[in-house]
Amino acid sequence: MEMPQVSTPGPLFPLLSTLLNCVEDGVLIYEIGSAPGGADPNMPGVANPNMPGVANPLWRLIGANQGIENIFGITAGEALHLNLQVLAPYGEHYDSKKVEIVKNAVISDGLNQNLTWMAVDNKDIPIPIELSIKTVVLDGTRCAVATVKKACEALVKDQTKKFEFIVNTSWEFMTLIDSNYTYEAVNDVYVKAHGRSIDDITGRSVEQVWGAELFYNVIKKHLDECFCGKAVNYRAWFNFHSLGRRCLDVTYYPYYGQKGRVTHAVVVSRDITKQKAAEDLLNETAKRLRKTVDGAITAIITMTEMRDPFTAGHQRRVAKLATLVAKHMGLDDFQIEGIHVAASVHDVGKICIPSELLSKPSALTSYEYDIVKTHVLAGVDILKNVDFPWPVTRTIAEHHERMDGSGYPYGLKEDQISTEGKILAVCEVIEAMASRKPYRDALGINRAIDEAIQNRGTLYDRRVVDICQKLFLSKKLNFE
Ligand SMILES: [Fe+2]
Repeated sequence: MEMPQVSTPGPLFPLLSTLLNCVEDGVLIYEIGSAPGGADPNMPGVANPNMPGVANPLWRLIGANQGIENIFGITAGEALHLNLQVLAPYGEHYDSKKVEIVKNAVISDGLNQNLTWMAVDNKDIPIPIELSIKTVVLDGTRCAVATVKKACEALVKDQTKKFEFIVNTSWEFMTLIDSNYTYEAVNDVYVKAHGRSIDDITGRSVEQVWGAELFYNVIKKHLDECFCGKAVNYRAWFNFHSLGRRCLDVTYYPYYGQKGRVTHAVVVSRDITKQKAAEDLLNETAKRLRKTVDGAITAIITMTEMRDPFTAGHQRRVAKLATLVAKHMGLDDFQIEGIHVAASVHDVGKICIPSELLSKPSALTSYEYDIVKTHVLAGVDILKNVDFPWPVTRTIAEHHERMDGSGYPYGLKEDQISTEGKILAVCEVIEAMASRKPYRDALGINRAIDEAIQNRGTLYDRRVVDICQKLFLSKKLNFE
């Protein structure tokens, strides 16, 4: 056992040294002055009004025993070095009323009842202490003898039991990991999952429990983030002795010690293996559904192609351009996908138009043109029962509308036309002009862009035309 530290020499102090370590509780001896009723302000090293302390700046700690080390985790020598700060309550635990009581107790004959007090140990962990103070005169010096023990152990045990109960009723895994990556506390379900005892896990490092590979590749980086003060959430697979391979949703919460630094990570993990399996199944189903939709779209395109190769090629090239324009407009992936699908089948209604009109090598009469115009609503009719996740039928319905209301079938204007409809309308016109038709040769991409620019804001959406022009100038617009 370490010998108690007593800093002031005197005939009685060697005896006191021996006696101090016979006491199990922590004992602190403060010099408070040579005469009853107050401290001697002339005593060197004592009268420092700025010294932080439990009670009175005129005190000086002159003795501490082994019991202090057991309670606070600091040696008696360190206690003397810290002087009054041994008992100092920090931050939220500072209680000015109790400080006053202690001051008055020292001026008179000591405390007539014990005080409970929140102090912090060497790891910044708050600890409740029970304090009694007696004043005595040693070698003509008035001293206060403070006896310290962990307060209300029964109460603390009871509180701990309650918290343990709460933590152990949880189905979630809960652990406390210190900044050396060591388990300090774990709950029952966690212990059972590992098929070990609590003592087998607490005191062990995370690396020992999970193995070096998982620790260094997955766990450590997240814990380090947490020790920097960030709450961290991630999912990973873990192999448990009793449960087998489980997918966990893991959250690390930083725990701050009394001095404001992160001392621990509080870990709460949820077993989401079943949820993960359900999610995987859902993703798989969504993928299959997507394949079905893609298959249906391909079938429509093939059908058009078999009947009218001109239209099929036109749709493919318009889809390519419309997708490029949508990307440059900053639309999200979902919208872009919808535009691609709508553009790929936008002329499907042409299968209702007599093929002689579609392949007529000369200009159409106005009567014939009116028939061709019906392809828009015919297409809507064909696709109306397909439950696309995108506004495909609306986009198709609007692909011949114009900003000034001169389009068909409804004569919609400006904001009545959706963004998708505006994009498709411009791309459709540019491709149609740039390509060869049964009744004329290709006019070329330059002519097509000129037409779009000339009617920018009247027939066609300004933004879409600007993007087409930019794409053309940067040579990104081609129909190969
Ligand atoms: Fe069309």
